[in-house]
Amino acid sequence: MLFERARKSLAGGVSSPVRATSPVPLYFSSGGGARLKDVDGNEYIDYQLGWGPNILGYCHPRMVEAMRALAERPYNYGAQHELEIAVAERIQSSVPCAERVAFTSSGSEAVQLVQRLARAFTGRPLILKFEGHYHGWMDSVLHSHHPAAAQTGPRENPKVVRESVGQVANSVENIVVAPWNDVELLERLLTQNSGKVAAVIMEPILCNSGCLMPRPGYLQAARELTSHHGALLIFDEVITGFRVAVGGAQSHYGVIPDCATFGKAVGGGLPLSVVAGRREIMEQMFTKGVVFGGSFNGNPTSLTGANAALEELARDGGAAIQRANRTGEKLRTGLLQLSRAHGIPLQVTGFGAALCLHFTNRNEMWEYRDILEDDAERLRRFLFLAMEEGVILVPDGRMYVSTVHDDRDVEETLAPLGRAFARL
Ligand SMILES: Cc1ncc(COP(=O)(O)O)c(C=O)c1O
Repeated sequence: MLFERARKSLAGGVSSPVRATSPVPLYFSSGGGARLKDVDGNEYIDYQLGWGPNILGYCHPRMVEAMRALAERPYNYGAQHELEIAVAERIQSSVPCAERVAFTSSGSEAVQLVQRLARAFTGRPLILKFEGHYHGWMDSVLHSHHPAAAQTGPRENPKVVRESVGQVANSVENIVVAPWNDVELLERLLTQNSGKVAAVIMEPILCNSGCLMPRPGYLQAARELTSHHGALLIFDEVITGFRVAVGGAQSHYGVIPDCATFGKAVGGGLPLSVVAGRREIMEQMFTKGVVFGGSFNGNPTSLTGANAALEELARDGGAAIQRANRTGEKLRTGLLQLSRAHGIPLQVTGFGAALCLHFTNRNEMWEYRDILEDDAERLRRFLFLAMEEGVILVPDGRMYVSTVHDDRDVEETLAPLGRAFARL
């Protein structure tokens, strides 16, 4: 029954070159670690991690203990409480830009707030974003995430492409789109829009379009250019946060943005997101009339998850996340060896804890347009075979590695994925 359902979903085809339709088992439970069970009792090694949040895997003892303790306390207050301070301090101790911290519930909301803060701070209307980068599903910023090749326009001046039917038409007027990883074009677009760009927002590692890494020096150059042009630099660390390093990509690369957004892993599986940034930008919420609301902002339930997860992640100098990154590197090496042995052209991009498989003949990939050449049909078939073999990936070929995936998981992943390569 399960595979029938998945087959039907796959028969729907591929909606865009990089958005493979997902094979979807009906999940039911987990015995812990990185394993999930479906309604039919099949077990999977999971690399989807709920699209990223479950960075400590499933039923982690520290999370279970914390959530049990919460059960007999209020789930929400309409006021300040101690956990807000505790979690804010944990974030401040690892995230370099976090002079002040605000809590929201989803990454999409955090991005709305940070855009408003940037426009208020600079008095400018435009946000410059990059092709292939995703910053949530709201009308104001859902542009040029996965445009089809025919929609993209010239590389030196990409079209601003709305991603959703029903999205406000004039939202495109507030956005400038640039190709990522190209310093010269960023400089040119900032100059062309001189005095109008409030902020440049980017995923510091392009996780949402194939886990592409920044070119050496690119983040530093973006920092210098934004400062020069009077625009804020915003890192959207909803995926990189607490995953590439405990302090996010900004601590890993030593490039400090003006503000950053976090989500997914920060709540350890509970819905929480964060805006962190320079004091004078953040305090506009109290001093300059920047409106910010949300019934669930800073709720104790999500903050209980965050407090436990951040404690685990920071323990022993970030040992758990370093281990996750090493485990991911073993997986990458094994996958490349296997694909070569089967004569299948494959690239595995990203960093240990967030990898992405590309069926491609390219040797290098640096921006969204590069991944348009990936063989989406082959990926779709591979995802389905992997699922049949008991391994779940993110539907675009990403693999998130948690702190509890271990060497046995790697072995027990490579063997079935080898069979999947053989069956391709
Ligand atoms: C980089 C990035 N920003 C923002 C978001 C939106 O977060 P949410 O799905 O929690 O609204 C996502 C979600 O995938 C993301 O990857």
